[in-house]
Amino acid sequence: MRRYLVAGNWKLNMGPQAGRDLAAAVGERLRGRTLHGDVLVCPPFVTIPAVAAVAQGDPVLLGAQNCAAHEQGAYTGEVAPGMLKEAGVQYVIIGHSERRQYYGETDADFAAKIDLVHAQGMKAIFCYGEVLEERKAGRAEEVVRAQLQAVLPRLEGPNAYNLVLAYEPVWAIGTGETATPEQAQQMHAFSRALVAEMLGADVAENMRILYGGSCKPGNARELIGQPDVDGGLIGGASLKAEDFVGIVDGAEAVVG
Ligand code: PGA
Repeated sequence: MRRYLVAGNWKLNMGPQAGRDLAAAVGERLRGRTLHGDVLVCPPFVTIPAVAAVAQGDPVLLGAQNCAAHEQGAYTGEVAPGMLKEAGVQYVIIGHSERRQYYGETDADFAAKIDLVHAQGMKAIFCYGEVLEERKAGRAEEVVRAQLQAVLPRLEGPNAYNLVLAYEPVWAIGTGETATPEQAQQMHAFSRALVAEMLGADVAENMRILYGGSCKPGNARELIGQPDVDGGLIGGASLKAEDFVGIVDGAEAVVG
């Protein structure tokens, strides 16, 4: 049985003060409860220390949204995986569609970053998914295969413990449009079969594959209830403690 992961991607929201308040509010709602999965928040870099201060001892894990593809050197504006580790980060999101689209990040960047994240003993959440035109053209599976094939086989030591996948159909991100549970299950089962091909059946069976794209309290239970959906990567709905915890409740309802 795979342990669910509900991960909040705060994107470019929440400075240190607002972030501390949000993390504290999430922690308060979850403290004392027995959770059957993992809950993670991924603030902007500058907010990480403030969140680390209040998330200490809480059931809320700490993540980052990106990292450099290098550990040190003349790379102005970058933040190294080792620095994140030192700040208390346990998970790093890599390959988000916004990084692909707005910052031109490539498969080679993703592979390098994931290997560095793993070298630091952190876990990577690798995002992939098709855009609307690709889905309309019936190419969703072909695109997903290419995205996974370009990164997974070249990683140094990926396994079901240090790597999490996040299927995020780009047409569902921030649009209010969600993949149906059937669409999500179909793409997740397809992804898991690809992982089996590339990394072996045992890794595939145990690897967590999250769904991302307009996940909210009202649809979380049904999405996460699909056999191959192991949690969610949450953007908009992670910015309000009540909504985010509502999604955790959805995941708990599936397990419990
Ligand atoms: P959304 O974002 O929940 O706002 O659609 C998801 C994501 O981009 O990870």
